[in-house]
Amino acid sequence: MTQAHHRKRLIAGNWKMFKTPSETEAFIRALSEKLHGMAQPLSTWPEILVCPPFISLKLAWDTVDDTGKPILIGAQTMDSHEDGAFTGEISPKMLRSVCIRNVLVGHSERRQYFNETDETVSAKTRAALANDIRPIVCVGETLAEREAGQTDTVLTRQVNTALNGVSAEEMAFLVVAYEPVWAIGTGKVCDAAEANRVCHLIRTLIAGLTNSPTADQVRILYGGSVKPENFPELLTQSDIDGGLVGGASLDVDSFYQLISQAAYFSEGAIHGCRI
Ligand code: 13P
Repeated sequence: MTQAHHRKRLIAGNWKMFKTPSETEAFIRALSEKLHGMAQPLSTWPEILVCPPFISLKLAWDTVDDTGKPILIGAQTMDSHEDGAFTGEISPKMLRSVCIRNVLVGHSERRQYFNETDETVSAKTRAALANDIRPIVCVGETLAEREAGQTDTVLTRQVNTALNGVSAEEMAFLVVAYEPVWAIGTGKVCDAAEANRVCHLIRTLIAGLTNSPTADQVRILYGGSVKPENFPELLTQSDIDGGLVGGASLDVDSFYQLISQAAYFSEGAIHGCRI
């Protein structure tokens, strides 16, 4: 019998540039209905986070408020400035004004298409923390970097830069998502043992930036082609605390299945019998 998993699971859906406000509302109502019928006790449920496009954030939050189900709503990015002449951007204060307390930071698509660097990821992480918004800091290597044997070097640079100067208390609050770029939207999931090895490396780096007890509390997610077919194996890994899900989070049935799988494994952990 392996040790029980002691960190609360987190299942986060990154919707990217999908779904209109009315589709968002319909999804949240449908998910709430499904959660209403969930067999596992509430204590085993993972934290559930949905990240729709900016235009739907307020409606998403209001819909959750109406259904009363424990669904968190997060943004997919934000600007690091308080306000200013930054056309098209959204500030932490604006997110807070519509009750948003979670934000993805440094997703690989932001790095690839919108020129975000380790330094901008660091600035956004600090801005989120300063505004009491929980950043989900995304890191991961490209296929070329993996094939060149640079995975650990790249991850070390990304983690050490993004989380530099973060206090132990802030570190325990934030979440890190390991998303190998070559696994995103490709159907090629990272081997579970290898994903766990990298997540363990990230935890070790966090311990170096703070201390071991803090690193032990930080939730680290895996992302990249997570589906109900491959998620259980990822959930049995010691250093993987949940998933950051793209495609499978757009369909209410598959997203609910992932939530229910996480609850099943947490239930097992609590009783010390399944994992
Ligand atoms: P997929 O689950 O579609 O591979 O996307 C992963 C992702 O980028 C989540 O942020």
